[in-house]
Amino acid sequence: SGQWNGSDQGDPNGDINTLTSKAPLPARFRAPLPIPEQLKPVRRTADTDYYEIVQSAATAEIIPGLRTEIMGYNGTFPGPTITQDPGRRVVVTHRNDLPVPTVVHLHGGTTAYDSDGYPTDFLLPAETYGTFPAMPAMPGMPAMSDPDALVSRLRRDYTYPPQPRAATLWYHDHRMDFTGASVYRGLAGFHIAHDAQEQALPLPKGSRDVPLMIADRAFAADGSFLYPALDATMRTTPGVDKPYANGVMGDVILVNGAPWPVMKVDAARYRFRILNASNARTYQLALDGSSEGFTQIGTDHGLLAAPLRQDTLVIAAAERYDVIIDFGRHKVGDEITLVNRLGSGSTAAVMRFVVARATKDTSSVPATLSGTTAITPSGSMTQRIMKFHRGGQGEWLINDQAFDPSVSLADVPAGSTELWTVVSDFHHPFHIHNATVQVVSRDGRAPGPYDHGWKDTVFVNKGEKVQLAIRFSTHKGRYVFHCHNLEHEDMGMMATFRIT
Ligand code: C2O
Ligand code: CU
Repeated sequence: SGQWNGSDQGDPNGDINTLTSKAPLPARFRAPLPIPEQLKPVRRTADTDYYEIVQSAATAEIIPGLRTEIMGYNGTFPGPTITQDPGRRVVVTHRNDLPVPTVVHLHGGTTAYDSDGYPTDFLLPAETYGTFPAMPAMPGMPAMSDPDALVSRLRRDYTYPPQPRAATLWYHDHRMDFTGASVYRGLAGFHIAHDAQEQALPLPKGSRDVPLMIADRAFAADGSFLYPALDATMRTTPGVDKPYANGVMGDVILVNGAPWPVMKVDAARYRFRILNASNARTYQLALDGSSEGFTQIGTDHGLLAAPLRQDTLVIAAAERYDVIIDFGRHKVGDEITLVNRLGSGSTAAVMRFVVARATKDTSSVPATLSGTTAITPSGSMTQRIMKFHRGGQGEWLINDQAFDPSVSLADVPAGSTELWTVVSDFHHPFHIHNATVQVVSRDGRAPGPYDHGWKDTVFVNKGEKVQLAIRFSTHKGRYVFHCHNLEHEDMGMMATFRIT
């Protein structure tokens, strides 16, 4: 069915153009599913794991026989997976060997402001050192780029304190005006935080705990990524790329960087950490060849209170779902296909699982997964309305304002909980940094079937009013909230808030 979120909201991709590949589309379910490399710490101390990443240009063979230039963390797409163990601090030293400035953001992370990847907190490439303007200061906030300190910013440390909950986080580029172009070229990877409570559960582990990064792309005849703008963004070249102002979708579905891959599985339970890393596309995932559907165990910010049966999962850009699929109910040789009910033609399929081996399975899905408390909205909580809408020039705005680093739309006390109502004129995945979110209501009604648990990205339908309870972290400083349709974000649909 085309129904989702419990009622007929229309097709969330309906107003967005799809780029058509000029390269021949590869055969489906041939490429083996790649598993991103697990990054190894270069050093460990009593409480900290140190990692190093070089951001560099590289080529990848995504379409068989063709070469695609990518920008990758350690030259790979997806980037290597970072694991954060319970109670441990992680420090990642990034070096930028790309020809453009970058910004590293840990999506869903609880992070001090100077490691959060504010959109103008650049990690500069060597070539532009000394010529790049310092970022504008904001009254009352410490400066982030002291020009004298620029040299240290060619190579810099991002520090991630122990995360409050086990969760499937991801890191990606966040440069002002250019996030869409940079992520499309490959700057995205998983960052998986664990906690002791989660580790004690009998859930599938090891090679049966698998991250799946879903992203659509289009390819030019020579295999290079097709994107409407090379480096200039659509915001800085008004008019030029208007057809793609609503967002960019491709006709090739990649999982972990491979087109429509296939994964051989044991006849056992698997845990999949599904991330939609697409710039703009929303998927409605379903399993063809299985009557069981998904057992959802987690969302953006970790495990749900209890497992939830889902026939389909609607996943907007940047959302995550942790699911269990039990291949133990199948026999060797069965094929189960992950499909996209919001897609058509080439975008209707995502990947395939083939049951290859019978096995013993000692995993299980406990009836209680985690302790989560529902936030009860109260009259003493500050309420704000955030209007996500289009301006007269076709630009994307929040409360009539295009992103301006010198303007804060909200100053919130550290550790506080506020009620925000997001009002929207289009389909927008709302995302906020350094905070955790519960959906209180949609258009005054109960939250939808995909709103359970602690979120950081919430899909807002066209014309909908979604009330959110937002709990801010205790880290003070300036952060952003924005639409995670990356073309909307690049065209201004982002704003600063300050934790004070
Ligand atoms: Cu996934 Cu502000 O980012
Ligand atoms: Cu949007």
